[in-house]
Amino acid sequence: MIRKCLFPAAGYGTRFLPATKAMPKEVLPIVDKPLIQYGVEEALAAGMDNIAIVTGRGKRAIADHFDISYELEHQISGTSKEDKLGGIRHLIEHCVFSYTRQIEMKGLGHAILTGETLIGHEDAFGVILADDLCLGEPDPVMKQMVDLYNQHNACIIAIEEVPMEEVYKYGVIDAQDMGNGVYKVNAMVEKPAAEDAPSNLAIIGRYILTPEIFDVLRDTPPGKGGELQITDALNTMAGEGKVLAYKFNGKRFDCGSVEGFVNATNYFFDKLYGGS
Ligand code: UTP
Repeated sequence: MIRKCLFPAAGYGTRFLPATKAMPKEVLPIVDKPLIQYGVEEALAAGMDNIAIVTGRGKRAIADHFDISYELEHQISGTSKEDKLGGIRHLIEHCVFSYTRQIEMKGLGHAILTGETLIGHEDAFGVILADDLCLGEPDPVMKQMVDLYNQHNACIIAIEEVPMEEVYKYGVIDAQDMGNGVYKVNAMVEKPAAEDAPSNLAIIGRYILTPEIFDVLRDTPPGKGGELQITDALNTMAGEGKVLAYKFNGKRFDCGSVEGFVNATNYFFDKLYGGS
């Protein structure tokens, strides 16, 4: 059973400056809930109660969020506002949180490698990029991926069809369709130009990885942008037939971009308050 989920959350979030100057992108709220809380809820719904977070300088608010605030709890105890803390209390009660810091921001692959100390080498683990907010249908996306992992025991990467003119923002796969949304990945490229892209199937921020990825990452040289790219490491594993891609059922908001963040906010506001 997969119990661990890694949250790389050390990025600078420059697209949200100045908001992210002193505040982590991951605690920016969609309506009234920080982005990363949606991600941890998704992990727990997939059976992952061991939450490993890779943070960086200026990210203390993340650890504070997943802790008890005694003064606040005392203040609102017995009032109607107490309900507002029900969701986060549930997570604190049911999950164990651990943290490590990425000292230099050398890319997502490097952040995942930094998480090795928290994840270990025993079992496969989930990876959630909290700035991709996913709503699975009917099951949460990570739960759908765990079900698939249990059948295949391979690395699973979540993918989404995107317009060809947007492939340059993503890792893109070259793959064989096996039916039911599952693809066998032959190769993948990070942020290709439209004319070089092998498909319009883009990798989004959900992965199930086997611990072998850590050794592969260690042997992977820096790639696009001088950063250690998870796509390059997975490309090596795909060459050995060890990677599947999964076109999940549901929708995704790219909350790492201002437009996606606003769309998610509108969506959840409508859902929670009926747009009133
Ligand atoms: P992004 O590419 O969205 O980068 O990283 P960013 O720095 O967070 O945001 P912008 O582009 O400057 O606005 C994708 C994910 O990888 C993590 C980020 O926290 C985010 O969840 N990441 C990226 C790290 O943890 N460390 C890194 O060195 C790079």
